[in-house]
Amino acid sequence: MALSNTVWITLAIVCASLVEGSMDRKDRQDPDWWKTTTVYQIYPRSFKDSDNDGTGDLKGIQSELDYFVDLGIETVWLSPIFKSPMKDFGYDVSDFIDIDPIFGTLEDFKDLLEAAHSRGLKIVMDYVPNHSSDQHEWFQKSLEKEDPYTDYYVWEDAIGFDNNGDPIPPNNWLSYFRYSAWEWNEQRQQFYLHQFVKEQPDLNYRNPLVLKEMQDVLTFWMELGVDGFRMDAVAYMWEDEQLLDEPLSGDPSALDEFDYFYLDHIYTNNLAETRDIILAAFDQTIKEFGAQDGYPRVNMLEVYLDIQDHLQYYECSDFPFNFYLISNTAQPPSAVMMFDAINYLLDNIEEDQVPNWVLGNHDNWRVGYRLGPKVVDTMNMILLTLPGVSVSYYGEEIGMTNNMNITFEQTVDPSGCNCGPQDYNEEVCSRDPERTPMQWNNGPNAGFNEGGPTWLPLNDNYVSVNVENQRDDPYSHFSIYKKMIALRQETALRFGSTVTKTIGNVLVVGRISETPETVPTFVLVANFAETSATVDLSEMFSTPQSDTGVVVVATDLQSDNSEGSIVSLQSITLSPMESFVFQL
Ligand code: GLC
Ligand code: MG
Repeated sequence: MALSNTVWITLAIVCASLVEGSMDRKDRQDPDWWKTTTVYQIYPRSFKDSDNDGTGDLKGIQSELDYFVDLGIETVWLSPIFKSPMKDFGYDVSDFIDIDPIFGTLEDFKDLLEAAHSRGLKIVMDYVPNHSSDQHEWFQKSLEKEDPYTDYYVWEDAIGFDNNGDPIPPNNWLSYFRYSAWEWNEQRQQFYLHQFVKEQPDLNYRNPLVLKEMQDVLTFWMELGVDGFRMDAVAYMWEDEQLLDEPLSGDPSALDEFDYFYLDHIYTNNLAETRDIILAAFDQTIKEFGAQDGYPRVNMLEVYLDIQDHLQYYECSDFPFNFYLISNTAQPPSAVMMFDAINYLLDNIEEDQVPNWVLGNHDNWRVGYRLGPKVVDTMNMILLTLPGVSVSYYGEEIGMTNNMNITFEQTVDPSGCNCGPQDYNEEVCSRDPERTPMQWNNGPNAGFNEGGPTWLPLNDNYVSVNVENQRDDPYSHFSIYKKMIALRQETALRFGSTVTKTIGNVLVVGRISETPETVPTFVLVANFAETSATVDLSEMFSTPQSDTGVVVVATDLQSDNSEGSIVSLQSITLSPMESFVFQL
């Protein structure tokens, strides 16, 4: 079809004004924005419920955008808000390009996006490419063997039938949420693969049409104006064709032989094709779109792997999420443990690879529970002192902690339900404890809604642990978090080099500018001991001009190291569990 000249001219004008408009936008001034940004993960069901129906929603989020501006957050990542039967609370998507009515409408989303952008905030979408919901149109048509959908999913025949006449699955592969990863389908008389719940059939990326469909999904959201993606479960997208049994892992943390960690996932996880074929294509779609209007979108990946495997994912994204502050730390926290977790990444990445740090998310216990309430500020300070991108989970800025009082009957997470009444509250099981409603104030339902139902029980501690309570207290979790973010505007914290050290149980993280005469260096000291400690940092940080520093963010009111006080590098004394940042 030939377009008339007038149409072409009109199109050209529209495009030019779009590009121009985008360059004027307050949120689009720095193409390198994503390299040092502060990311805040919203779990939309739990953030703010505008219609009092018990589940958070887009209008709720929109009503709190100024909260991010006040806190200093730059980028908001939304866990899935797409149409979903909610078997895995949104990670089972039945329409990748529409909003679930529980959260609002596509119009609401556009409003939210505009309201965020007008404040200079970025919005990053979750993107769930490994699977869809079994209610997705593609799966429904695949069931019917309706082309081209017949091979959109991973279908396999039974290898036989047992004595009861039940079909035997192709192999021993397990679902992340326990039990076989194969589900029998009566209609097709075949098994389909699901590495998560059975209502989340894995997409078949050996079919190029699937890849194309999912690239189009990315384009759809970029055209609407989103600033990037967090890609879910990307290590699971490609499976070995031979369908061999996976070997036993010998992992003692496995509950039993139905536990995912019972096997070593050499045929289903982290296969080269997931990077070389699938992720490379997604990344290209995103990069090309950004190149067109001169404004890069961010592409961040969810992978939990050892460092050598982890690093390979830099080649097909902006960065894989670095979870080592979660996976490589445990109670009791110590300076050496944090030092090791930090340097596990820093010692291994190349200069052009952007470091990033994730402290918590909707799949892991909250910092205040996992590492203990005493280190909440310390961990936030570490997160916000380290170079690159910081990623916080909602509520971590006020020290929200797990709600371990959710009964098995109240448990809704499939991972918890599948573990049964004995084990549901184990760390590898229910994720409900870290997903409870955001604690805004000490009013009805902590200000999450107006006193209606709540999809998960609130944590009782909301009476004291809430935003309103902490806002005006200069030494609250909230205030310390906010001061740390403000400090990140400093050149040394954005672009400086990083030095780390432990002295006894004290962790030292320095961010050093190249021109210390004109641009200050910042040093975080964190005492992980229950006793006080004195450290000598003169060799590390003294300059011919100075051997003292000024405290800029303090945590312990009782100590001598309050904000504005002078510390002598030769002898810095920290109270038990105290941390603070000083400037040279
Ligand atoms: C990711 C998500 C998790 C979800 C799973 C399946 O790991 O973070 O919440 O259950 O993928 O989509
Ligand atoms: Mg609601």
